[in-house]
Amino acid sequence: MIQNIQSTKDMISFIIETYHIPLKEILPEISTMLTRMIEVHGKEHPELELLKKCFIAFRTDMEKHLRKEEDILFPMILQLENAYTKNAERPKFHCGSIENPIHQMEYEHEQFDDLFKQMKHITHNFILPDDACKLFIKCYGTFLKMIEDTEIHATYENTILFARVKELTHLL
Ligand SMILES: [Fe+2]
Ligand SMILES: [Fe+2]
Repeated sequence: MIQNIQSTKDMISFIIETYHIPLKEILPEISTMLTRMIEVHGKEHPELELLKKCFIAFRTDMEKHLRKEEDILFPMILQLENAYTKNAERPKFHCGSIENPIHQMEYEHEQFDDLFKQMKHITHNFILPDDACKLFIKCYGTFLKMIEDTEIHATYENTILFARVKELTHLL
């Protein structure tokens, strides 16, 4: 499916539908799960409190990141592609070159990686403790899936979408 996507417009729709929408739905669900986990297992598992702190930082930054991509960067990319298809001049952006917000997004992807490393360290790679109940299993499973999806999401943006934008800026 990914290989067949040609235009940046299609790449952006693919990213929003496949990664942004599901991520926005799962973040509040993880918050609720963690609160419940701490109520039930917080005494025997103090690492859950640390995991929650790390997750709150991740959620806050990620929600801002998604808004910046959807409200600022993606519309800029569409404008750029539009200019390229119409053989028009390169559009002028208030932030200067489009490479500036792209570098910022790439930097934020690295910050998310660091937070994932911290989460894995806190939970010993999300290995379930012997006393893990259904909620524990569901929570750690959801974390692992969210981390894996976010890694694929960021790699897709870095290596396919942003790479295409860099190519377009050189063509215009
Ligand atoms: Fe994204
Ligand atoms: Fe991103």
